[in-house]
Amino acid sequence: MKAKELKKKYFEFFKEKQHKLISSASLIPEHDPTVLFTTAGMHPLVPYFMGEPHPAGKRLVNVQKCIRTVDIEVVGDPSHLTFFEMLGNWSLGDYWKKEAIEWSFEFLIGGGRLGLDKNKLYITVFKGDKDAPKDLESSKIWESLGIPKKRIYFLPKEDNWWGPAGSTGPCGPCTEMFYDTGKEKCSKDCKPGCSCGKYFEIWNDVFLEYNKKSDGSFEPLKQKTVDTGMGVERTAAMLQGKKNVFEVEMFTPIIDRINENSKKPNTKSIRVVADHLKAAVFMLSENIAPSNLDQGYILRRLIRKSIRHFRILDIEKENFTTEIAKIVIDMYKEDYKELNQNENFILEELEKEEKKFKRTLEKGLREFEKLIKKGTKITGKEAFLLFSSYGFPLEMTEELAQEKGLTLNKKEFEKEFEKHQELSRAGAEKRFKGGLADSSEETKKLHTATHLLNEVIRKVLKDDKIVQKGSNITKERLRFDFNFDRKLTPEEIKKVEDLVNKKIGEALEVKKEEMTLEEAKRKNMQGVFEHKYGDKVSVYSIGKFSMEICGGPHVKNTKELGKFKIIKEESSAAGIRRIKAVLE
Ligand code: ALA
Repeated sequence: MKAKELKKKYFEFFKEKQHKLISSASLIPEHDPTVLFTTAGMHPLVPYFMGEPHPAGKRLVNVQKCIRTVDIEVVGDPSHLTFFEMLGNWSLGDYWKKEAIEWSFEFLIGGGRLGLDKNKLYITVFKGDKDAPKDLESSKIWESLGIPKKRIYFLPKEDNWWGPAGSTGPCGPCTEMFYDTGKEKCSKDCKPGCSCGKYFEIWNDVFLEYNKKSDGSFEPLKQKTVDTGMGVERTAAMLQGKKNVFEVEMFTPIIDRINENSKKPNTKSIRVVADHLKAAVFMLSENIAPSNLDQGYILRRLIRKSIRHFRILDIEKENFTTEIAKIVIDMYKEDYKELNQNENFILEELEKEEKKFKRTLEKGLREFEKLIKKGTKITGKEAFLLFSSYGFPLEMTEELAQEKGLTLNKKEFEKEFEKHQELSRAGAEKRFKGGLADSSEETKKLHTATHLLNEVIRKVLKDDKIVQKGSNITKERLRFDFNFDRKLTPEEIKKVEDLVNKKIGEALEVKKEEMTLEEAKRKNMQGVFEHKYGDKVSVYSIGKFSMEICGGPHVKNTKELGKFKIIKEESSAAGIRRIKAVLE
């Protein structure tokens, strides 16, 4: 069964169970400060986990495009990917464990659905600790479906608990479904959760039943949510009897093209290039450009790492990144229109970045030649300089050293590497984690201020074509990106601040309404239309001043906001300005 068929069956199945199909949201989370990318289907739905009604109802189903960077170093193993698609079904305060697990089982095993082999299904369940009890409710349901006790494993929080990534928010135990690939066990203790590739995790049912409070304690949630996630590539691999995700149809044409052009193929490099360039194309399709900041920085790293692997693979072709990009666009353009719409941007940016980075690599090689002339040794410090200034990964320096008969001090390199990592890690790490955002009072206020700013900016700059190109809110500040091709003058910045503050001073009421997408369009409202739900959307209006399609949450009245102040105005990509602002 191909992935297309899998998705279709999933939607049909859950529609039969009264779920509404909603569309995939953007890869860039709009109001979640804890992550740079949408890492799971639940991400865009977080506001609805705290009781806010979703316009499509209490039972939802979809496929979500996701980017995960936590596992980036293990990409190349049988199952981890940077970009992947996730199928999911949700119950927002409706059905609970019994239905969720029974339906998962029915879909995987039941006749006419996926028809997987029940005897190859392994289950993990939360084992319990001081915060929450052992999840016997879930294990009993699995047993009632005929899964023997010996194939049900009880694991701790690290394996069987979801959220929150921030310090507070909805969380709870999960039960995961693994499929036996038939591979030999890697050791006597090999069991579901082991990464050797014997057991493939294909689906996760999460039961969000607690709210983690700021004092670290857990209280039961008023509204319980079921959040499930099934990896499309992994499940397709199992359905097709493959032992890894790179053998499914969403990878084979890419892998073949890399193979055809490589004079020195190796499996790991081929997989890294295929994975990273696919992820890069999807980021570019949402107008993220390579840069040294946030999403743009991750994108740059993915492209550059691919190009370094071109060298290892001995791929000489120019613009090979764009050749791969065209295959990716072709493969996914039916499901993700943004690929086609932004094709030129995707190809141009890749070409630019490839050229630029290849020049840096050339310089690095010249630096390397100098080292050869100096003697027979490369110190760890020198290897690190090649890495940090010219983008040489250690394995490349190692290979070059070997070719020239030089020794290389790897230990010293690693020490040097760790020293620098520590400096940059603390901040970055936190944001790569998937999880639930924190909808504190501070973020709510900044969210409402963002709506005001969105309207004010168009008015002050007298340009109707300005639209929001990105938004990110932390407890401390808001960040707002919009299309505009020059720096704002100090007078304009002052005008923007003044008008936002005037609207705050008018004590405007913030109201939520539900309407059809067509009504919303007729009212000429702000919001990202193609990424929103089927029939009904929620719309937030601030007095008569602003109206936006949005999931919330917001404050009730602008008088709660305090004083709005812009702390930075800068460029974030070609043609895109970025404002950071606070409420004092
Ligand atoms: N949010 C859960 C996951 O991503 C379903 O595994």
